Amino acid sequence: MPVTSNASLSTNEKNPLTSLDEWEDAVLERYPEPGIPAKNKEAFRNYEEPVRDTVKEFYRLNHMYQTYDFVQEKRDNYLKFDKKEMTVWEAFDFLNQLVDDSDPDTEMTQFQHLLQTAEAIRADGHPDWMVLTGLMHDMGKVLCLFGEPQWAAVGDTFPVGCAYSDKVVYPEFFKNNPDYNDPRYNTKLGIYEEGCGLRNVHLSWGHDEYVYHMLKDYLPEEGLYMLRYHSFYAWHREGAYSYLLDDHDRQMLPWVKLFNPYDLYSKCPTPPDWNALRPYYEALVAKYLPATIKF
Ligand SMILES: [Fe+2]
Ligand SMILES: [Fe+2]
Repeated sequence: MPVTSNASLSTNEKNPLTSLDEWEDAVLERYPEPGIPAKNKEAFRNYEEPVRDTVKEFYRLNHMYQTYDFVQEKRDNYLKFDKKEMTVWEAFDFLNQLVDDSDPDTEMTQFQHLLQTAEAIRADGHPDWMVLTGLMHDMGKVLCLFGEPQWAAVGDTFPVGCAYSDKVVYPEFFKNNPDYNDPRYNTKLGIYEEGCGLRNVHLSWGHDEYVYHMLKDYLPEEGLYMLRYHSFYAWHREGAYSYLLDDHDRQMLPWVKLFNPYDLYSKCPTPPDWNALRPYYEALVAKYLPATIKF
C-alpha cells in the first residue's frame, strides 16, 4: 500500500530502528574498513541479532514505501524550505536531539560524528570546502525531527521511476513496492533516457537530497556530489546504474568515493575537543555559509 500520510503509520512502521545509527552500523558491517577485519559477531554489539532484525525491517519498509509518488510528495513539501530558519550552530543543537542512547559502543551525538568526519578530512590536507562538506553532510537528518519516518530520512538511496538494481541491499523487498508492477516504472530505463545524468534522476527521499538542496548555492560542485550521493552505495560502491550516468557523473564519482571513507571510518570513541576547534570552524562556516539556513 502506498503511503500518503505519515500519520497512518504505526510507531514501529515509522521507527523500526532503536536509533538512526543502527543503519550506519549496518553499512559499516557491509563495507568494513580495508585492512581492518570487520567486527565479529560477538564484538559488534551485545545484542547482535535484534539489531540485525531491526535493520532488515527498516529496509523492508524503506523498499516498500519509497515509491516514485512518495518521493515527489516529499520534494514538494521539503524543497519549499518553509519549515524553520536557523544559524548553523542552532541547527547542530536541533539535530543533536537525535541522540543515540541505545548504543552500547558509543554515546556520540550527531554533531560529534559530523565533527569527526570534518576533522579526518582536514587532517588529510583536503580543501576547506571539503572539510565543511564533512561538517554538514548529515544535517538533512533533521527530517526525523520534522516527523519523517526513519526510512524517509536515512538508508541507502536508489533511483525511483525505473527498474531496481539487484546491487541495492535487500533487493527482494522491492517486490512489495507498487512501482515494481507499474509498467511506467519497471523497465530498465523507466521514465529516464539512457545517459541522462544523475541530476535528472530522482533518488529515494532522504537526508542526502535534502541537504544538497539546502546548501547547493554555497559549496563547489564536488562537495555537492558528496552531499547528494553519499548514501547511493549501489552507485559509488557497487557500480550499478551506469546506463543513467553522463560524463559529468563519471567525473564526479572519484570525489564521492573520496568522501565515503571519512563518513564510514572516522568514528572514534574520543570526542574531538570542541573548544579548541571552535575558532577554526566558526571561520569556516562564516567563509562559505550565510548567517542563517532555511529548512
Ligand atoms: Fe549520511
Ligand atoms: Fe554520516
